[in-house]
Amino acid sequence: MKYRDLINKMTLEEKASLMSGKDFWQTQNIERLGIPSMFLADGPHGIRKQAEAADHLGLNPSIPATCFPTAATVANSWNVELGEQIGHHLGQEAAAQKVHVLLGPGINMKRDPLCGRNFEYFSEDPYLAGKMAAGYIRGIQEHGVSACVKHFAVNNQEERRMSIDTIVDERTLREMYLTAFEIAITEGKPQTVMSSYNKLNGTYTNENLHLMQDILRKEWEFDGVVVTDWGGSNDRIAGLIAGNELEMPTTAGETNAEIVQAVKSGKLDEEVLNQCVDRLLQLVFTTEKALADNGKGKGKGKTELPIEQHHSAAQVAAEESIVLLKNEGGILPLPSARKVAVIGDFAKEARYQGAGSSVVNPTKLDQTLQLLEHFGIDSIGYEPGFERYGKRNRSKLSRACALAKQADIVLLYIGLDEVTEAEGLDRPSMRLPDNQVALLAALHEVNPNIVAVLSCGAAIEMPWIHQVKGLIHGYLSGQAGAKAILRVLTGQVNPSGKLAETYPLRYEDTPAASHFPGKEVSVEYRESLFFGYRYYDKARVDVLYPFGYGLSYTSFAYSGLSVDSTGAMFTITNSGSMDGMEIAQLYVGCASDNIFRPNKELKGFKKLFLRAGESKEVYIPFDDKAFRYFNIKTNRWEVEEADYAIMVGASSMDIRLEANLHVNGSGALLPYEPAKLPSYYSGKASNVPQAEFEHLLGYPAPNATWDRTQPLGYNDTIAQCQYAKGWFARFAFHAMTFAHWFLQKIGKRSTANLIMMSVYHMPFRGIARMTGGIVNMPMLDGMLMIVNGSFFKGLRHLLRERKKLMQTASLDKEIT
Ligand code: BGC
Repeated sequence: MKYRDLINKMTLEEKASLMSGKDFWQTQNIERLGIPSMFLADGPHGIRKQAEAADHLGLNPSIPATCFPTAATVANSWNVELGEQIGHHLGQEAAAQKVHVLLGPGINMKRDPLCGRNFEYFSEDPYLAGKMAAGYIRGIQEHGVSACVKHFAVNNQEERRMSIDTIVDERTLREMYLTAFEIAITEGKPQTVMSSYNKLNGTYTNENLHLMQDILRKEWEFDGVVVTDWGGSNDRIAGLIAGNELEMPTTAGETNAEIVQAVKSGKLDEEVLNQCVDRLLQLVFTTEKALADNGKGKGKGKTELPIEQHHSAAQVAAEESIVLLKNEGGILPLPSARKVAVIGDFAKEARYQGAGSSVVNPTKLDQTLQLLEHFGIDSIGYEPGFERYGKRNRSKLSRACALAKQADIVLLYIGLDEVTEAEGLDRPSMRLPDNQVALLAALHEVNPNIVAVLSCGAAIEMPWIHQVKGLIHGYLSGQAGAKAILRVLTGQVNPSGKLAETYPLRYEDTPAASHFPGKEVSVEYRESLFFGYRYYDKARVDVLYPFGYGLSYTSFAYSGLSVDSTGAMFTITNSGSMDGMEIAQLYVGCASDNIFRPNKELKGFKKLFLRAGESKEVYIPFDDKAFRYFNIKTNRWEVEEADYAIMVGASSMDIRLEANLHVNGSGALLPYEPAKLPSYYSGKASNVPQAEFEHLLGYPAPNATWDRTQPLGYNDTIAQCQYAKGWFARFAFHAMTFAHWFLQKIGKRSTANLIMMSVYHMPFRGIARMTGGIVNMPMLDGMLMIVNGSFFKGLRHLLRERKKLMQTASLDKEIT
């Protein structure tokens, strides 16, 4: 242990005190020993340092910082160096704001397009997500600030995120849900990991020894600090034993006392605590030193943000990430000297980031309407055309149509609003609001030359796609996104983004639809490996836009593939007339059908710039991930001896070159009996019967529904009050659902959402964990008595415990 001497000087109470926050964002300091506290702040695409009122839902404003495009956007660039540069700027801003730990990047898999937080995550593919995240982490940590990769792991729905139990088989866990973390952690080397709120196969992730010890610490050799997600601690001692050092935010000493008690009673070996303290101290001292050094030396210590420079960096990031999805008849780039009607509320007020803890207070914000004239666009006027939050408005629609009639080209800005894509909530559907769809249909009647600019952070359905000739997807492109989009529209920038997720034709086509989200106790990942392109490709389900798809104003030709055991070499030629960037994708498929697998999986990629007419040789090496699969019999990564198809493509469904390679295997026993897993062997995994899923799991899936006969406990959610024994709890539940309904009815969707985000799905223990000591666990016991039908007994208990808490607090005050 590095800090043994220092730890020897600490009292048990002091050691325990370091294991949880001092307040909402800071860790505990110990002045007499020179241990400073650290400041932790969101977030993944910009710093959200709250100087005053603190919250984890992005409600109160933070110090201005550059709002870069969100991860879902930057993933479309497929440019790891760009990720590293963004990380570099984030790290610089964090250091300038004296933030020790930056809570990002978030790298959960997009199992289902409706997960409310997909805008914050990179991809449906673990390889792409892992590589991008590793880039961010390297960049952030260049400044000595710690990155904090989150949410570890299998946190793929927002509904009931603090208590849902994810049931997933080991191979799927390793190949699909942990590979991105593995790459991010082993290659990016973050100093901090954030555990997720949910359970994994019955155990909260931060208490899950398999996840936290066998995999994270032993296999990946992670020696940094694990921090809980805010309020995500369940059993503090079990978490500590699993190696979860830091609990956030503060519990006003309540869980510290539990730790002290556990050591005294022998439940917790003090040496385990010492090791946790040691790792935490390492984080505290290294980040503190970096922040102190940041003030010294050349080129460092700029406490003033280079606002303009970072704004430009955000613009470049957006430019490389924008995806051109449709360009019928070459309607783009916008021809000059054409009359353009600009329509859509999003042109006036850009939609550029999502809602929740990642919300950034931007230093500047580009708006399309204010920039039009700088781009020489001959705009004949602007009309909003629709109301942002979905209300129908006939007069807005007719005014927009009247304007469109007079134009050569209609530039239509559409997308999802800020309330729809939010932390804590999943989206109800993949549709754009009806009023926008109706507007597009009406515009199409009067002028078919429509170019749509889409702003949203996740896949949507586009049954209206035939009504637009051009479609640019800006995703959530950050504070400089509006300008970046105009540069692409006018051809100053040749678009080069490609989708990091599939766009299915309709939600019903998605493989997890019948098991998303988990509504009560658990969510079963029945589709196993088969989500995203792995599913559509193997099950032969048509999609609107495949994974890896994106157009350019030029064209690229692929030729001359040669493959050996180390990698694939080929040539790309820019066969069009404009300079541009291409993203070449390397997929590997196994010819043997001994083990069920997707037809192809991404195993490498390269983005390169080519002048018009230029050719370049590209080499993509194979790495340790190229041929491996996780064998549940040997409990290890293995390679099957077989022929492998090495495919090079412009998208997952546009393979341009293919070669065969024989690979020697590791000789492991085959793990499955194919006859028992027909859905997985066929890849038609959208409706896997329970028995087959259980065969894959290797044990019976736990009961997925609430046991309504049992009293409610710490881990039951407030939503479960609907069947509580206590009349008061049932009344409170109905009052809450009525308030939600009413707020929505009167158009206050954002406030209505808050009820869902912060109350409805919260487990009872969250009341104690998130109130910074105002409510403690004994008081919670009183509340639960009320909930479970003992109203007066519970109330007495609650008041008694409250009094005790107040007395201890005032005693503590007197002592200090
Ligand atoms: C989110 C985390 C975030 C934390 C602190 C939680 O609700 O899940 O991603 O870092 O709050 O704001």
